[in-house]
Amino acid sequence: MRYLVFVPLSVFMLVVFGGIVCCQRPAVVNIGAIFTFNSVIGRAAKVAIEAAVSDVNADPMILNGTELKLFMRDVKCNVFMGSIEAFQLIEKEVVAIIGPQSSSIAHMISEVANGLKVPLVSFAATDPTLSALQFPYFIRSTQSDSQQMAAMADLIDFYGWKEVIAIYVDDDYGRNGISALSNMLEKNMAKVSYKLPLPVQFNQHDITVLLNNSKPLGPRVYVVHVSPDPGLRIFTTAQKLQMMTNNYVWLATDWLSATLESFSKMNQTSLRILQGVVGLRQHTPDSIPKKAFLSRWSGMQQKGLVSAGLNTYGLYAYDTVWAVARSIDKFINEHNITFSASHELPDSKATRVQLEQLKVFDGGTFLLRKLLQTNFTGLSGQVQFNQDRNIVSRGYDVINIDKMEIHRVGYWFDGSGFSVLPPETLKGKNVSHSQLDWKLQNITWPGGKTETPRGWVIADNARPLRIGVPRRASFVGFVTEEHDSHKVQGYCIDIFLEALKLVPYDVPYKFELFGDGLSNPSYDGLVKMVANDVFDAAVGDIAIVTNRTKIVDFSQPYISTGLVIVAPINNHKASAWVFLKPFTVEMWCVTAASFVMIAVVIWILEHRVNDDFRGPPRRQIATMFLFSFSTLFKTNQEATVSSLGRFVMVVWLFLLMVITSSYTASLSSILTVQQLSTSVKGIESLITNDWPIGYQVGSFAYSYLSDSLRIQKSRLISLGSPEDYERALRQGPRNGGVAAIVDELPYVQLFLSNQTDFGIIGQPFTRSGWGFAFQRDSPLAVGMSTAILKLSENGMLQKLHEKWFCKEGCPEERRQHSEPHQLRLISFWGLYLLCGTITFTAFLVFLLRMVCQYVRYKQQQMHPHSPSSSSSFSTRYSKAVFNFFDFIDEKEEAIKKMFTQCDYPQVHGSSGR
Ligand SMILES: *[C@@H]1O[C@H](CO)[C@@H](O)[C@H](O)[C@H]1NC(C)=O
Ligand SMILES: *[C@@H]1O[C@H](CO)[C@@H](O)[C@H](O)[C@H]1NC(C)=O
Ligand SMILES: *[C@@H]1O[C@H](CO)[C@@H](O)[C@H](O)[C@H]1NC(C)=O
Ligand SMILES: *[C@@H]1O[C@H](CO)[C@@H](O)[C@H](O)[C@H]1NC(C)=O
Ligand SMILES: *[C@@H]1O[C@H](CO)[C@@H](O)[C@H](O)[C@H]1NC(C)=O
Ligand SMILES: *[C@@H]1O[C@H](CO)[C@@H](O)[C@H](O)[C@H]1NC(C)=O
Ligand SMILES: *[C@@H]1O[C@H](CO)[C@@H](O)[C@H](O)[C@H]1NC(C)=O
Repeated sequence: MRYLVFVPLSVFMLVVFGGIVCCQRPAVVNIGAIFTFNSVIGRAAKVAIEAAVSDVNADPMILNGTELKLFMRDVKCNVFMGSIEAFQLIEKEVVAIIGPQSSSIAHMISEVANGLKVPLVSFAATDPTLSALQFPYFIRSTQSDSQQMAAMADLIDFYGWKEVIAIYVDDDYGRNGISALSNMLEKNMAKVSYKLPLPVQFNQHDITVLLNNSKPLGPRVYVVHVSPDPGLRIFTTAQKLQMMTNNYVWLATDWLSATLESFSKMNQTSLRILQGVVGLRQHTPDSIPKKAFLSRWSGMQQKGLVSAGLNTYGLYAYDTVWAVARSIDKFINEHNITFSASHELPDSKATRVQLEQLKVFDGGTFLLRKLLQTNFTGLSGQVQFNQDRNIVSRGYDVINIDKMEIHRVGYWFDGSGFSVLPPETLKGKNVSHSQLDWKLQNITWPGGKTETPRGWVIADNARPLRIGVPRRASFVGFVTEEHDSHKVQGYCIDIFLEALKLVPYDVPYKFELFGDGLSNPSYDGLVKMVANDVFDAAVGDIAIVTNRTKIVDFSQPYISTGLVIVAPINNHKASAWVFLKPFTVEMWCVTAASFVMIAVVIWILEHRVNDDFRGPPRRQIATMFLFSFSTLFKTNQEATVSSLGRFVMVVWLFLLMVITSSYTASLSSILTVQQLSTSVKGIESLITNDWPIGYQVGSFAYSYLSDSLRIQKSRLISLGSPEDYERALRQGPRNGGVAAIVDELPYVQLFLSNQTDFGIIGQPFTRSGWGFAFQRDSPLAVGMSTAILKLSENGMLQKLHEKWFCKEGCPEERRQHSEPHQLRLISFWGLYLLCGTITFTAFLVFLLRMVCQYVRYKQQQMHPHSPSSSSSFSTRYSKAVFNFFDFIDEKEEAIKKMFTQCDYPQVHGSSGR
């Protein structure tokens, strides 16, 4: 009580002697500080706070003539004790309290601070919920964990991990920090899969049990968010349990850097344990005052005044004292420091607690406002407070412990993400916010590897993934079981295996077939089995449709599909010229040429002996061609008489028979197809008519047609295979077949690849894709999607498609060929060759015979009795060729003469029969 009287008295003295107009500057201002002296943060903070108070008191620029008096209380990390100490501190009529260090105590005494209007300025309580409007007198001069967890979530996202395990102390600090992490990860589509709490006073045994329990879990990324004081116990235990090895990722919040920096000498043993750990550290820009303070600190260390090293919290504590001093300085220029008994406090007699000593600080609101207006550059950087009463963010350093050294591998800054340049150098520049520009130096992970660990393993004791695979009975190229080897294979399986290679973790799996192999299984059924945990995933040609996505997660589609209508089509638009269609152009040319050839050859063979082939040249030419063309219709009036001519005719007529019958067959099939074409013009005409419609067994087309398009179920006919398709389409709607088939594009393309009578009518009327189905929230779905996109980008999808479906040219290309049903020269080549050869041979034989006759005739003319001389045969032969045509003319003359006399010619020398 006497003390309380003293303060106004001294204030009064100052008014008298200080000569200040407005207010009396008090000789002494009390401030309090609450923290745990014997803790990693406390050891550094205690020294820093004391140093700051003496610096403030020594600086004439601030609180000139007023002494800043500091009351420090040790709370020994105990929330109850801390609260008691806080009450005792407030009794000292402090105007502000620096601290508390612990988030739990901060929660407790913030309410007291509210009631007594004493601002709390904490340099170490990082629990993000303390920013709540519930605690208006709580100011945080350090960065909130919501910032730190944003950095942590970005770090996890940067390395592409989707699931993490959080280890934390189960108090306000740990719990709320991890909950902030969960929220931040959700934004990045990742999550804290397992939250493993430790008791506040955890021991070796607790850690061992907890870490052992975490081993069988899938994720291998651990985020450790504990208080610094137990030191590196978690990591030494993890080391003993073989968890500081390859595959594991250890991420630590800034407690680790605070611990490491507080070691007076870098402890080599502990740094070896920490090999590969990645941590965050609150960023403090390098500045001259900071360097000066660091050297002052090491000076104190050398003198033995300080045992602990200086960590970031020490710098924050130092700046906090200055912030408070500056605010008080401004405050006392405008206000008197007065306390009054609270009306809200209960009567002390009633409660028997000595509450009357608790006084409300009258200027509390004003001092709070002054504090929030703080703007100065301290050791830790610019000190300013934001809307949430937190210090304006400075970002974080990312540190990596490698080869028993702490490496700073980059910086994180709110808004600009990771960079290798400190955030203060980015200020004012055009900072790219794009995640693609994020950069960090290489990190060495536990086990010494530099490749980013996959961060997820199939849990040790977990079974391999059961992957449901449809056992298809038709279109088996997509996926099915091979008959002999019982191996599952197909296009979809190849894509799955290729994609699996790109998934950044090992996935043991086994295929389990679904379906009886006799008909295609129901794909809705397969998807339901994934949802019902019979399978972990389903791989196959599974269409991604809405009601399947409601129960499972799909990967990205690896092929785009849609429902299309297949119906008979009219390939022959120009029906006036349909008679030309059966043959290709070459075929027509060769046929025409062969008519001409036959005409000429038969004329040559016949005209000497056959009266029909005689007459004036014009008539002969007419006869020649009429004969040749009329063979087509077997109406040739002229009979062949020479044996060679008859022989040629036999072969020719045989050729003609084959050609004409092929032509007839081809033409009739062309005309039949024209008849087949129905009037299916698109999906509307299908809906409005009452023709039967085919669909593939097991396909979603059935439910689409019946539910979405409201087509009567009785009209829908299930078809099992391409052969069924063909049969049903050929039968047509009136003969028990179907008018059209509705199926997905890839099957239809395959079906049409060797079909020419049917085609796709219109455009696909749904657009979807095929993907792999996974259980809800499976991390594999995300990994698979990324892998499929990669496959699509590097052309692998196309290659696999070609491998399976383009053995004889891709379906699209194959259809570019000539008109269907057209007969091509290649089919008749042999026949033409045969006919040509025989005709030519007959012609040669004829020629030879002519030559012989001519030679004999000449010999008889010149040496009627001498035998022919063999020595001069060649000369005579060439002469014979020269004279051949003369001879022909001569002969003709002779024969003409003869013919005028005889009725039937017995030609001279034309024997040899
Ligand atoms: C501090 O106060 C003393 C007298 O009380 C005065 O002489 C001195 O100039 C003041 N210093 C500053 C920096 O205001
Ligand atoms: C170094 O760390 C180990 C394990 O953490 C500890 O046993 C040892 O006492 C420490 N040494 C020093 C000098 O701090
Ligand atoms: C401060 O106290 C002095 C005397 O006690 C008084 O004259 C002055 O008006 C007070 N100032 C304010 C702002 O209340
Ligand atoms: C804080 O101080 C700096 C200079 O020290 C000034 O540039 C800045 O505008 C101030 N900010 C506010 C909000 O007053
Ligand atoms: C970082 O890793 C990449 C590839 O992993 C390598 O090419 C590069 O040289 C490494 N950089 C450093 C500084 O080690
Ligand atoms: C999809 O919807 C149809 C009816 O709308 C239903 O019969 C079918 O079972 C559903 N499929 C799934 C996988 O839920
Ligand atoms: C089309 O090809 C498939 C196999 O590629 C075959 O099974 C089917 O019989 C063929 N159909 C026709 C009409 O050639």
